[in-house]
Amino acid sequence: MKLVAYLSEILGNPIVFCLAVVTSIAAISSRYYTWHLQKSYPRRNNSTGSKATQKRTPGQWTPIDFTVPDPPPYPGWDLKLTKPLPYRPFKYGPNYFITMGLRKGGFDEWIELDNEFLKFHSLKRERIEIRGDKCCKTAPEALDAAIELLEMLCDYLPKRYPSMFVATKVGINNVVTGEEFDIIHRPLSEEPMRTIARLLQDDVAIMMEGDDGQYYLKSGSILLPGFWKLEDKFNMSLSDIHTSGNVPQFKEKLEKGMTNFFRRVMPNDMVLRNNYFIQVDDNLAWSDSIGSEDSDNVGWFSAEKHKIINHHWFRSERQSLRRLPRSGGVAFTIRTYFHPVTDIAKEPYVPGRLASAVRSWGDDVAVYKGRELYQSVLLEFLDGENQKQIDEGTIGDGKSHKSYPF
Ligand code: HEM
Repeated sequence: MKLVAYLSEILGNPIVFCLAVVTSIAAISSRYYTWHLQKSYPRRNNSTGSKATQKRTPGQWTPIDFTVPDPPPYPGWDLKLTKPLPYRPFKYGPNYFITMGLRKGGFDEWIELDNEFLKFHSLKRERIEIRGDKCCKTAPEALDAAIELLEMLCDYLPKRYPSMFVATKVGINNVVTGEEFDIIHRPLSEEPMRTIARLLQDDVAIMMEGDDGQYYLKSGSILLPGFWKLEDKFNMSLSDIHTSGNVPQFKEKLEKGMTNFFRRVMPNDMVLRNNYFIQVDDNLAWSDSIGSEDSDNVGWFSAEKHKIINHHWFRSERQSLRRLPRSGGVAFTIRTYFHPVTDIAKEPYVPGRLASAVRSWGDDVAVYKGRELYQSVLLEFLDGENQKQIDEGTIGDGKSHKSYPF
């Protein structure tokens, strides 16, 4: 009350009143201006990270000064306790639609690590030693992009996973494995995609735009791919990668959208997609039931039919795509989640939903995913588990649409 009385007394003075009005207008304008700027440019230095810079000659990229805000530490992350995220990206039938399936992602969630990190890490280390360049390599024209990606990860990981990574003057240390990475001095101690492989659970590919405007696979660390090999696809265009793999309806449903997406994606975009497969062996790195990794002739035809349910594994990838602002390369991360079907079938709704999804595949998708080999065993098992969930009253009438992709 005293303050109110004091204000009315001094504002009664015309000079003080005028000064107060002018000061208030200035303060309000300044706040509005700041707010307006923040609204227009929500991220630091991203004034050129948007679609405004799209008009360019194919194959040419002008570096952009773009950074995102520092990510907060992953809430409660613990190397022993944080479980793999339960992506279950399959939908009830009756229809299965082939789409690009892209959704917007957040920069904070770029890389996902969990309590399987050490398992992935030692498998990758072993495969780098045994297979080397077959799994990790970079064409000279993509070297800057690979180094840029490595630098971005060295910035991101210590902020997101501070209990495992620390930033150093020359790069990054993994305090759990004891690895120290110097990314400053030249020559680098190893090929950058190998270092990237050791920092992540993901596989990674970098696509570079050619003079023809197409995107080519020019750098990769592909150590746990399951069904394809970097050496087969290296230097291929995006279209050839997919047509050589007989991706169903690629020409009709995917090619145009993907071409447009790659040309237009800018550093301030981040997109995600998830997929899933059934695998009839438990090999995370290479599904050897389709043939040896060193054979030229691999495919579902060589896999054993009707294996018992314990040999059925659910394989799901969580992929991210973003443009590297300095080099213009497009970084594609592929994080695989791999579980026995018998485990995920314990989750409410999952057996019913997965069975319905597998039945909904058209003939082309069924051939691509090898359904013939496992459908009788898999569907009988899933139907039984679904019925149990209904009988126990866990899932009501057995239908629920949880939000995609979980
Ligand atoms: C907009 C981005 C992309 C879309 C929409 C897309 C779509 C697809 C689809 C639908 C499949 C079939 C399996 C599945 O459902 O995932 C597939 C397979 C595949 N994609 Fe992509 N893809 C994209 C980007 C890329 C990139 C950047 C690479 C670079 C390495 C790539 C490499 C592959 C490979 C190697 C396969 C397996 C082909 C095979 O079976 O041999 N994709 N992709």
